[in-house]
Amino acid sequence: MWGICSRTMVKVGMAKPCGLLKPCHLVKPVSATRVSGRYLTHQKGLPGLPVPPLQQTCERYIAALEPIVEVDELKQTKELVDEFQRTGGVGERLQRGLEKRARNTENWLSQWWVQLAYLEYRLPVVVHSSPGLVLPRMNFSDKKGQMRFAAKLIAGVLDFKTMIDNESLPVEYLGGKPLCMNQYYEVLSSCRIPGLKRDSIVNHAKSSRPPKHITVVHNFQFFVLDVYNSDGTPLTADQLYIQLERICSASLQSQVEPVGILTTQHRDSWGKAYVNLIKDKTNKESVSAIQRSIFLLCLDGAMPRVSNDMYRSCAAVQMLHGGGSQWNSGNRWFDKTLQFIVGEDGTCGANYEHAPAEGPPIVALIDHVVEYTRKPEMTRSPMVPLPMPKKLHFNITPELKKDIEEAKSSMNTLAQDLDMRVIVFGHFGKNVPKSHKMSPDAFIQIALQLAYYRMYQRCCATYESASLRMFRLGRTDTIRSASSASAAFVKAFDDPSKQNTEKVDLMVKAVTAHRAYTNMAISGQAIDRHLLGLKMIAVEENLSIPDVFTDAAYAKALHYQLSTSQVPSKTDCVMCFGPVVSNGYGVCYNPMNDHINFAVSSFNTCTETNATHLAQAMEEALLDMRTLLDQTPRAKL
Ligand code: COA
Repeated sequence: MWGICSRTMVKVGMAKPCGLLKPCHLVKPVSATRVSGRYLTHQKGLPGLPVPPLQQTCERYIAALEPIVEVDELKQTKELVDEFQRTGGVGERLQRGLEKRARNTENWLSQWWVQLAYLEYRLPVVVHSSPGLVLPRMNFSDKKGQMRFAAKLIAGVLDFKTMIDNESLPVEYLGGKPLCMNQYYEVLSSCRIPGLKRDSIVNHAKSSRPPKHITVVHNFQFFVLDVYNSDGTPLTADQLYIQLERICSASLQSQVEPVGILTTQHRDSWGKAYVNLIKDKTNKESVSAIQRSIFLLCLDGAMPRVSNDMYRSCAAVQMLHGGGSQWNSGNRWFDKTLQFIVGEDGTCGANYEHAPAEGPPIVALIDHVVEYTRKPEMTRSPMVPLPMPKKLHFNITPELKKDIEEAKSSMNTLAQDLDMRVIVFGHFGKNVPKSHKMSPDAFIQIALQLAYYRMYQRCCATYESASLRMFRLGRTDTIRSASSASAAFVKAFDDPSKQNTEKVDLMVKAVTAHRAYTNMAISGQAIDRHLLGLKMIAVEENLSIPDVFTDAAYAKALHYQLSTSQVPSKTDCVMCFGPVVSNGYGVCYNPMNDHINFAVSSFNTCTETNATHLAQAMEEALLDMRTLLDQTPRAKL
């Protein structure tokens, strides 16, 4: 059932016809269409994603199960794994198939991944897949301020787009190695299209006539806004402001059918409704204009007023799902890869559809935009009259009206179910772990293990996204943060019979083990995508699925009750997403130098989970770990 974004487990249909997973016509391989230049040269120089050795993955898989399954279960799984990897066994055959695929494709994983993790995943993209991003509250509190900021924001995105178009984006590095830059070319002018059984993505940036407009939605009404002058120069912020004013004046009335809410639906339902929607020529043209646009700008109506303490949590809700049909959930087109959201009260941020990219490229774009909005406007606007932005019309049949009502109702249920808590941990940031010569990310992940253990007296399968962008067209693999070393540490931490020196020793071991797993994952040697690849070869070759994949321990390993991701940024912001299992948590964090922003989510319908409690437990764990380090003299590391 489950299988979403890079943070979740992907369950491959047991007997899925392999045709479904063939490299599809829907996502064009980028290098085939890119014209020339630096980008291509850079991409060609990147290594391909390796296929790890079979025995290595099998050993590491057993080690990863140790903290999360019972002893008896582990014994049984060991037998299955031994059988799987024995000389001449099915594992070897699958491994050969995968190695062959790796030789014949640019990246053996990426096409499968986008299909399985995203396009064939049928739960709503809202909450279940698309992350939100909360920016710091901006310095405006009325409609004029909203439009002024939005105008600058558009200009900032266009400025970044120029770097993408000129292929002048600086190459990024991780651990001294250059990264694949492909995702930057996938996020603008692209959109997800709902299908009856699986979705697709279109990217108009690569067409012979790339789009020159964005879509603006205000009071649930959509407008096409051309953002380039006839000479090809981008509109200035002043020009954009005038156009946004005209859009707002033309959409004062909010009593219209919120067509955008359809995009919040379960993908099968939306797929069906979509067929109905685009039967009408006007509707089809309107939908096409949205899909083709460079990005979507949502000018939101007011949200419920809340205390300062709850402000960021509510802003996260606004970015993640819009608050329900009575608020801003209909003021969106969630299939659009990139939606910027600007409220009237200084709240702003974004939401992005996950299929084409991970958080870091989105955040890099947003960092650029935020910096741009802070600069004084330098360019003088040309004194030419601009055409009126075009309103997009929709003809709503009774059947569509029914679809809209159903979408409203399920969106409202989802909105009520989501518990989101954003906190700023202000006691320290990366500085403290660094001063103790520890990886800050590993320190935070181990604190999260401690927080969870204190709440539940057990460890759970934990997912952290690791970038595979050192490889051409690389996406992510999984860092399994629950390890034998982390389990030993969390069990010892509150045990009064243990000495502090022993606890510190266990902490260092746990943090070191986490960092070692990270290094292994970013160099393409982690276990999860490899196991998925082996399973996919079995599916493609119509073999019966090996027992290791139908084993209860495998299901347990993929039931991520902690689904986590670090998304760092220059701007003091935080990304947020929903849990990936009904009894789990979503935890996203941005470690700054002297504080850490956390967004923790859970579902209210699950009585065992509580986002606020985990956030508090996380704060306590971080503080207690620092206190332990401060109070315990250590032999020099
Ligand atoms: N002593 C002192 N400093 C250390 C240290 C140590 N033992 N280990 C690491 N550091 C420093 C690093 O040099 C780095 O310094 P900087 O702040 O000057 O850059 C900093 O601490 C952070 O390092 P660390 O905390 O170890 O994390 P990282 O930056 O290497 O990131 C991942 C780790 C897993 C988050 C990263 O590799 C990754 O894969 N990111 C992508 C995740 C992703 O795609 N998320 C999106 C999902 S939508």
